[in-house]
Amino acid sequence: MKKIDSKEQRKEQILSAFYFRHACKEFDPVKKITDDDFAFILEAGRLSPSSFGFEPWKFVVLQNQAIRQRLLPVTWGAQRQLPTASHFVVLLSRTKEGLTPDSAYILHMMRDILKLSEEMAKGKGARYHNFLANEFKLMDNERAMFEWGARQTYIALGNMMTAAALIGIDSCPIEGFDKDAVERILREEGILEDGFGVACMVAFGYRVREPREKTRQPMEDVTIWV
Ligand SMILES: Cc1cc2nc3c(=O)[nH]c(=O)nc-3n(C[C@H](O)[C@H](O)[C@H](O)COP(=O)(O)O)c2cc1C
Repeated sequence: MKKIDSKEQRKEQILSAFYFRHACKEFDPVKKITDDDFAFILEAGRLSPSSFGFEPWKFVVLQNQAIRQRLLPVTWGAQRQLPTASHFVVLLSRTKEGLTPDSAYILHMMRDILKLSEEMAKGKGARYHNFLANEFKLMDNERAMFEWGARQTYIALGNMMTAAALIGIDSCPIEGFDKDAVERILREEGILEDGFGVACMVAFGYRVREPREKTRQPMEDVTIWV
C-alpha cells in the first residue's frame, strides 16, 4: 500500500524546501533539468490562482542561447544566471487592452475556460468592471492595469520556485533588467506580441556552490495579530 506522509513530515518537507530555495546566482551549466521535472514546474505556474480567474500571464521558456546573449547587456540582475541556467523563463503579463471587461480575451476566458453561461458572464463582467473602474481604480491607467496583472504573475513565479525547490531544483527570481530594452529585443525576436509586457524573469538549474546562511527578520517584526 502507498505510504502517506504524516502532516508533520509534510510540514518538514515543505519548510526544508523553503530553506533550500535561495536566489541562486550561478548554475552548473552542464546539469540540465529533465523535461518531466520542468513540466512539473510549469504546471505549478499554470495552476496558480489569479484575480477573477483570468490568468493574465504567459510563460516564455527561453532556451535559445543567442537570444539569452542579446538580453545579457540589459539584464544586470542575471549576469551569471542567463548564461548558465538550465531553463530561463520570462513571465509576461497582459496589458490594459487584453484585460478590459469587453476585450476578446476576457470574453474568451469567461465563455471557453471558466465555462460561464451568458447570464453568469454578464454578471461577472459587470462586477469585474466595477472592480477595475471604481473599487481598485485601475481602468484609467495603462501602467496600473499592467502592474495589476504583473502582481498576479508573481504568484505563479513563487509557486514555480517552491515547486522546483521541493524536487531539489534551484532558482533565481529576476527583476534586474531594463524593461523597455528587454521588451524591444523580445519584440524584434517575434516573441513579445502586442497586448503583453514583461513582468519578471526566473532562472532554474542546479547550484554550483552552497549559498550563505538564510537571513530573515524575526516573526514578531513581520506579523501583527489583532
Ligand atoms: C521580485 C524579485 C526580484 C529579484 N531580482 C533579482 C535579480 O535581478 N537578481 C538577483 O540575483 N536576485 C534577485 N532577487 C533575489 C533577492 O535578492 C533574494 O530573494 C533576497 O535577497 C532574499 O534572499 P534568498 O532568496 O536567497 O533567501 C529578486 C527577488 C525577488 C523576489
